[in-house]
Amino acid sequence: MAEQKKEWAVGIDLGTTYSCVAVWLEEQCRVEIIHNDQGNRTTPSCVAFKENQRLIGDAAKDQAARNPTNTVFDVKRLIGRRYSDPIIQDDLKLWPFKVIADSDDKPMIAVSYKGQEKHISAEEISSMILTKMREIAEAYLESEVKNVVVTVPAYFNDSQRQATKDAGTIAGLNVMRIINEPTAAALAYGLEKRAKCGVGERNIFIFDLGGGTFDVSLLTIKGDVFEVKATAGDTHLGGEDMDNRMVKYFVEKFNRKNNVDINGNPKALRRLRTACERAKRTLSYAVSTTIEVDALSGSIDFYSSLSRARFEELNMDLFKRCMETVDKCLVDSKMDKSDVDDVVLVGGSSRIPKVQQLLQDYFKGKDLCMSIHPDEAVAYGAAIQAALLTKSNKFFPNLVLLDVTPLSLGISVTQDLMSVVIPRNTTIPVEKKEVYVRAQDFQSYVSIVVYQGERKRASDNHLLGYFNLYGTPYALRGHPLAVCFSIDADGILTVIAEEESSGSKNGITVTKEQRRLSTEQIMRKIQDAEKYKAEDQKYQKKAEAINALDDFVYQIRKAIDDVDISNKLRSRDKTKINMAIAESKKLLDARQQTETEVFVTHLNEVKRLIKPIMRIN
Ligand SMILES: Nc1ncnc2c1ncn2[C@@H]1O[C@H](COP(=O)(O)OP(=O)(O)OP(=O)(O)O)[C@@H](O)[C@H]1O
Ligand SMILES: [Mg+2]
Repeated sequence: MAEQKKEWAVGIDLGTTYSCVAVWLEEQCRVEIIHNDQGNRTTPSCVAFKENQRLIGDAAKDQAARNPTNTVFDVKRLIGRRYSDPIIQDDLKLWPFKVIADSDDKPMIAVSYKGQEKHISAEEISSMILTKMREIAEAYLESEVKNVVVTVPAYFNDSQRQATKDAGTIAGLNVMRIINEPTAAALAYGLEKRAKCGVGERNIFIFDLGGGTFDVSLLTIKGDVFEVKATAGDTHLGGEDMDNRMVKYFVEKFNRKNNVDINGNPKALRRLRTACERAKRTLSYAVSTTIEVDALSGSIDFYSSLSRARFEELNMDLFKRCMETVDKCLVDSKMDKSDVDDVVLVGGSSRIPKVQQLLQDYFKGKDLCMSIHPDEAVAYGAAIQAALLTKSNKFFPNLVLLDVTPLSLGISVTQDLMSVVIPRNTTIPVEKKEVYVRAQDFQSYVSIVVYQGERKRASDNHLLGYFNLYGTPYALRGHPLAVCFSIDADGILTVIAEEESSGSKNGITVTKEQRRLSTEQIMRKIQDAEKYKAEDQKYQKKAEAINALDDFVYQIRKAIDDVDISNKLRSRDKTKINMAIAESKKLLDARQQTETEVFVTHLNEVKRLIKPIMRIN
């Protein structure tokens, strides 16, 4: 087994329902998925509080039906979100444990522990699960473990990532890196594939449907380089949603038959949920099953059969949502589905036959790869990443991993237009520089306002932060300044603006507070962007028409302010020009009420008028 005094680094898949820990064994040149004290290779992400005891993992899950209000699970659905988030409000109705809001709208789980009510954050519960995973690794490695790589859904926003990192810190761990779950799975798949098929180029599509989240990623593996081309997902779609559908269906059925509503009876709900989840698993290999819960309410037993067809009907919209996300990822990657070499299934819920069938249909009958273990692949990949980050590893394949940023980043320019500097799905780390020009003469400073999102109007996106650049005060409109965006490997963004002529420089690092954005907001932003595409285009056209007219008028003004030019003009032409300027100003002042076409037509007229008199670009 393990050598002593080695600095171990492990990979942890912190799942909604199950967590898994793995390590790269250098001497044996392989990854080991570490089993827990019960001999299981995955551990329930579950924490229970009792009169005088706290339980984590299998022990917590096993007593859940007897102690439902103090058995906490699903915290990955809470982490980094606000209490008022509608998604949380929906989940609350189904959780047997109590969740309240603290004064900052942060959700807190209220449990009874040692005779007192305690309020615990999602980060703290996650830190308890991470601690358990660390102990599992330490028992196996017979050594202290401090360094970890933790995985998160690719579509987690900055706030959810940061909260996950905080959970690691609370657990006393050194979180070396947070990586995306599908990317980790791809590392696992790619490494195995490479071992078997050599180092040719392959496009791999990872489909990861777990307990609480859904992620897809398209990667290209070329030799040692693993490059993520595009990613998409839904941080609130998974097996738990299917369990919820089943619970709701049977609660209604039970009510209709017995006239008893078990909503509000946490013990009964928990027992029904467990039975539903078991039935769901059975339906992955059988076409029908039964659900039996003795004494579900009082002395009334519950018995029902459920066919696979009915299960599919209950969840069809969820399955369809998965397929829409698959399509979005392919569109974003600009790759044709026929270019995909392997479609890899990850996550427990990818075992559902209907999901597999829809996916196979989408890829025109292509075989789906099930060669890697769907429950362990993410931890496997995390262990590889952990080894990659441990410089002392001598026998490690020399891999390079390139990930992407999920949402576009940019600044607001004239007329509140979003100027994207880093488009979504750009490989990180990345640095991009854009040269902008001043919009006004003699500004004492220029404001740089940074946004994240896909809308054309900057203020419709999520505001990340802003700062002022105090450059040359006597600079004219059109004077250049450079804005540089950089994102590091952990996804942290820095924006710097610089005016070369004066050497003036200013910038910001967008921290978690500034970048706090709920998933629901992210999803809404992307949906809005689609919904409002036409409206946005209209807005963009108008803004561009206004800018074009404004710019042209500015050039004319500058020209006639020039004595040399002005002296050469006939007074009749000067009058014509002044009238055109006045007319343009009137239109620009009334920009709200004026239609785009009016600006375009007017600009053409002014150009026609000016052309024989003087040359303006
Ligand atoms: N054979 C099966 N058929 C259907 N569903 C299954 C099967 N096996 C497991 N599941 C479901 O898969 C889910 C757990 O999958 P997994 O362990 O990949 O999720 P997780 O990592 O905990 O969650 P996430 O990745 O979303 O955070 C559960 O909802 C479970 O009910
Ligand atoms: Mg998972």
